[in-house]
Amino acid sequence: MTEAHRPQPFTSRPAAPLTGTARVPGDKSISHRALMIGAVATGRTRVSGLLEGEDVLATAGALRALGVRISREDGATGVTYVIDGAGLSGLAAPTTVLDMGNSGTGARLLLGLLATHPLTAQVTGDASLVERPMGRVIEPLSRMGASFLAREGTKLPLTVTGARMPVPIVYRLPVPSAQVKSSILLAGLNAPGETTVIEPEATRDHTELMLRHFGAELTVEDAGDGSRQITLTGQPELIARPVEVPGDPSSAAFATVAALIAPGSEITLPNIGINALRTGLYVTLIEMGADIAFANEREVAGEPVADLVVRASALRGVEVPADRAPSMIDEYPILAIAAAFAEGPTVMKGLAELRVKESDRIAAIAGGLAAIGAAFEEGEDDLTVRGGGRPRGSATAIPTHFDHRIAMSFLVAGVGAEGPVTVDDGAAIATSFPGFVELMNGLGANISGATDP
Ligand code: S3P
Repeated sequence: MTEAHRPQPFTSRPAAPLTGTARVPGDKSISHRALMIGAVATGRTRVSGLLEGEDVLATAGALRALGVRISREDGATGVTYVIDGAGLSGLAAPTTVLDMGNSGTGARLLLGLLATHPLTAQVTGDASLVERPMGRVIEPLSRMGASFLAREGTKLPLTVTGARMPVPIVYRLPVPSAQVKSSILLAGLNAPGETTVIEPEATRDHTELMLRHFGAELTVEDAGDGSRQITLTGQPELIARPVEVPGDPSSAAFATVAALIAPGSEITLPNIGINALRTGLYVTLIEMGADIAFANEREVAGEPVADLVVRASALRGVEVPADRAPSMIDEYPILAIAAAFAEGPTVMKGLAELRVKESDRIAAIAGGLAAIGAAFEEGEDDLTVRGGGRPRGSATAIPTHFDHRIAMSFLVAGVGAEGPVTVDDGAAIATSFPGFVELMNGLGANISGATDP
């Protein structure tokens, strides 16, 4: 989002049943990691299925500015990104500011890599990203020897100078965050000895799986109380390996909920990642009575994958436990939509982290629910959606705060609501889900730009 940004309103009108098969773009988390780990590996990494969303392209741009050669091949079997690894400590000092756009993952993981390279870099982002907390990575990365000069101490833009003599650390995460965990592990690649992260609750483990896929030595111990201790042996030999990025379960969530709430729907979403640390939404929807089948389960490049078959279902409200939050942290906006169409209240707890996402998502969800006429109660870190009947639609455009998941969630609401739903700006959708409108309309939705007929 730049100051010159012109909002692009979209309207979603009530749709006929959704039917057919749609290929959801690649997983955003895995795409960032494939680029970054490929960048510091030895040899040539070929990545298929990479998400070509703005967030991931910002990461590719930053890595190129750090001297990594990344090329795009458009072949008969699809697009492949080819990364010529610079080697473990091979990143070069950039001559331009590294602009991570809207991406918290891109920024925080990249800071991990930079923290143990002896170079100085400036990192910034868009109007949303510069307000998000970076202290959570600055603090552990400083302990590893990096130094930071950040706006207000903890925010972008910042200047980082990586450690000449990196120090491995043992670090207990104060917040359950895969981004912070991954940032420290990526920094640990260039530290001698063992870097250990203890997470009180398990968060997505794509970094661990991919580091192992590239040959790093990494152990994970479950403490039995839900906490996990992840130990990486530093200075590994990372050898380039092919990566196939599965479809993003967080993106598939939008088509899934649209099919559930549009009567008579049945859709198939092939090749979706079903890593258990990402599927909390699907667990919750099934508890709510959703008919979702996981067909053809298999493993691709170390990640579990399945074809999702979703049929329209009568949903009932449930209580979502706080300890499920890490496995569905990005899915509360779309769960709130499913809940608005369910019978009875859905209670969501443990949502504190939603306040520091691309927007204050609890407030943004509340604003949108009010606009479509759905009843809810908002707490400091919880949300109850009352449900019961189809929401009426929005009389005025819903503010999305340049948050892709807020925009897509309320456009999905419009698929099943009694009247149209308009969002004030869909431009942010391109950060994570290019082609969202076309994909949804291909299944039978009726979403258009405000100026379209
Ligand atoms: C991500 C982790 C989550 C999630 C984000 C992607 C990742 O953030 O919200 O969209 O790729 O590691 P936190 O780790 O900050 O919860």
